[in-house]
Amino acid sequence: MTAMTSKDPVKATTRESLPVGEPLSLVSICLDTETWGTLKLFTSSAPVVRLDRHLDQYRVDDHESVLDWIGDPAPDICLLDFDVDRRSAALVAERIHADAPETSIFAVSAQAQPDLIIQAMRSGCSEYLVKPLDTEQLLNAVARVGGRRRERKEQARAQMMAFVGAKGGCGVTTLVTQLGALLAQTYSRKTLIVDLHHDFGDAALYLGLTKYRYHAYELVENTDRLDAELLQSFVLHHGSGVDLIPAPPGTEPARPLMAGALVQTFEFLRLRYEFILVDLPPGLNDEHLELIRYCDQVNIVAIAEISALRNVVRQIDYFTKKDIPADRLNVVLNRHQTRGIISEPQIEKAIGQKVFWKVPNQYVQVLKSISGGDPLSRASNSEVAKNLQEWAGNIGRKGSPEEKKKSRGRLGLWGK
Ligand SMILES: Nc1ncnc2c1ncn2[C@@H]1O[C@H](COP(=O)(O)OP(=O)(O)OP(=O)(O)O)[C@@H](O)[C@H]1O
Ligand SMILES: [Mg+2]
Repeated sequence: MTAMTSKDPVKATTRESLPVGEPLSLVSICLDTETWGTLKLFTSSAPVVRLDRHLDQYRVDDHESVLDWIGDPAPDICLLDFDVDRRSAALVAERIHADAPETSIFAVSAQAQPDLIIQAMRSGCSEYLVKPLDTEQLLNAVARVGGRRRERKEQARAQMMAFVGAKGGCGVTTLVTQLGALLAQTYSRKTLIVDLHHDFGDAALYLGLTKYRYHAYELVENTDRLDAELLQSFVLHHGSGVDLIPAPPGTEPARPLMAGALVQTFEFLRLRYEFILVDLPPGLNDEHLELIRYCDQVNIVAIAEISALRNVVRQIDYFTKKDIPADRLNVVLNRHQTRGIISEPQIEKAIGQKVFWKVPNQYVQVLKSISGGDPLSRASNSEVAKNLQEWAGNIGRKGSPEEKKKSRGRLGLWGK
């Protein structure tokens, strides 16, 4: 709750939260003529807010749905004048807060006594604007709502993780399928694997999902007509809960993609999953650069061999030249052996950065899980399985429903 009783200039950081694109919708309730005039001027000069409707009565009738009254979908903001009848205004705020919790309620009043502000806060208002309405204060309050909406949107988008080998056979598909299955099964996170190999894509094979009709490149080619139903014809479901969009089954020649089509496809997929793991072919591939730039994290999978480590250096150099921020590039050392010929400090010196994650070398255990088509059923007590469980836990626990529940508990009363 923010009570604005003094001038509150718009800070640069607040300005950044102002919604770009779709303006925030606003409904006003029982505003006096002067405040209404200021609001109209404000909305015509600041396209960040769209005035949806003005209501000239407090409606406290329990039998009527709040959404019928304030609009469905509920507006982003209700500007509620408390001065006509404070008690009714508080009841209205309570009802809006209960039935449309995503709506931010701004109280407007000529009175600024602390007990009145507290009362408005208790009835669900998040801002208290003192008359005469100051447009800068209003803009600040709107920016806070914009910031929250942006956060919510970001939370609703899948985290995108690309995996690319420093050279062929470093273990990309093994790690992607195991992590994907763990995220889905152990951490109940909605997870999708997309295999973007043009040929020799193995993700479907490693998950034992060998019967399918359509592949990832056909999906990208159809991005313009993509909807939930069409998507279902491309998605294979694994027993762990992880979904897969496989690579082409044969050895088709690479098909040229329309510029922007890959990102457009993943924009669609991102709204339907919490995590998307992309299995990329090794090497420096311009075709996938646009997608790599769009990912939150790029895992370069290497093994402790001279040629692989040399390629890691080249890849990091190439990606940073192409404006991919260095902090998104993780070097993953697979098939790691504590007493390997090239020591870890030597590896880190060669690649010029810390190794992000080390996966132990356990060929038999890994092979068992691959040949069974079920990354989780076998060898779950092995060192490699425990290592990947730990990695998946680091990814999957963040922002999980359990974690959110816990933090709400900690915030207690203030966690609304
Ligand atoms: N941690 C590990 N310990 C031992 N063997 C491993 C490990 N990870 C992967 N392997 C083995 O390495 C081989 C290559 O793995 P994988 O197919 O996952 O690599 P890739 O990078 O996807 O290869 P490609 O370049 O062909 O796509 C497989 O035989 C796999 O069993
Ligand atoms: Mg592979």
